[in-house]
Amino acid sequence: MLDRFGRSIDYLRISVTDRCNFRCVYCMPPQGIELLDSSEILTYEELLRIITVLGQVGVNKIRLTGGEPLVRPGIVDFIRRVSSIRTVKDIALTTNGSLLAGMAGDLKQAGLQRVNISLDTIDAQRFAAITGRDNLAQVLAGLDRAVAVGFSPVKLNVVLTEMLSEQDIIYFLDRVYQSPVAIRFIEYMPIGRQSIKSASLIHAVKTKLEHVSSGKLQPAVAVQGSGPARYYRLPQAQGVFGFITPMSEHFCHKCNRIRLTADGKIKPCLLSNVELDIKQLMRSGCGDQEIFQRFVQAILEKSHQHDLSDQQGNGEFTRAMFQVGG
Ligand code: 5AD
Ligand code: SF4
Repeated sequence: MLDRFGRSIDYLRISVTDRCNFRCVYCMPPQGIELLDSSEILTYEELLRIITVLGQVGVNKIRLTGGEPLVRPGIVDFIRRVSSIRTVKDIALTTNGSLLAGMAGDLKQAGLQRVNISLDTIDAQRFAAITGRDNLAQVLAGLDRAVAVGFSPVKLNVVLTEMLSEQDIIYFLDRVYQSPVAIRFIEYMPIGRQSIKSASLIHAVKTKLEHVSSGKLQPAVAVQGSGPARYYRLPQAQGVFGFITPMSEHFCHKCNRIRLTADGKIKPCLLSNVELDIKQLMRSGCGDQEIFQRFVQAILEKSHQHDLSDQQGNGEFTRAMFQVGG
């Protein structure tokens, strides 16, 4: 499927739940959240039908997000069913990692290929300040387990805030030497709370990494499913570093994705308020062709690029991050 700008759309990101056991400051709105009733959430059957229909037109990469996807009951079995759909070539999950240690083996066995784990700091106090939870040890155990069961690659998402410390950089450096992880520093997008500015932090982290590695950081070829990240390698390191800069250097020109929210809305772009219903359509008994048509309509709504450069995150978005899935 091609959009109006010739971009081929082969990647569907599905938010399977708006629920999350964390309360990250940049994701959850400060006034608290109102959760969806379970009847409002697309059922696994509905999701499988959508994946099957889109598989016929070349959508072969699926990523499950949330909220926190691992809190939705039945997720392992769902992944097993997704991975048995013939057209699905790549199935990945973005998780906060807190439940991963206990589930990684089953997820791997169910056919999950890749995981991205959100981890912004390894300082327990700062971790709690960001996520509102005291679960750093569980997340680190989840990371170890994900590497141990053989997800490849395992990626870490580090949203850059002023919480990142010297100690974190040292830990991340050590990690890329010790294990085949891709550590990606992500520039904060002004969707949640407004106070975080991370464009300058991206620059600072890169400079710091260059410094502590004595200038050995080299541009690297993309790792699998690299999407928007630019990667760098260190000699003798097993892992890589990546930088994702949606704000200061956006990557809209190579966007290949379309999103589905837990409550059944197709979103042409993360950073746009445009959404098209798919749930009511399906629940009214539509045919596969109509599902396909609705996605085509959504893809034609994809704009050339987002225009966030002059926005300050002052509440212009109708959805917070936990409702879209990052
Ligand atoms: N800006 C950038 N990244 C964000 N994430 C959540 N909110 C934001 C934001 N405002 C990240 C999470 C997670 C991924 C799904 O999106 O850290 O790794
Ligand atoms: Fe939960 Fe992820 Fe949002 Fe944090 S960023 S509150 S882990 S959905």
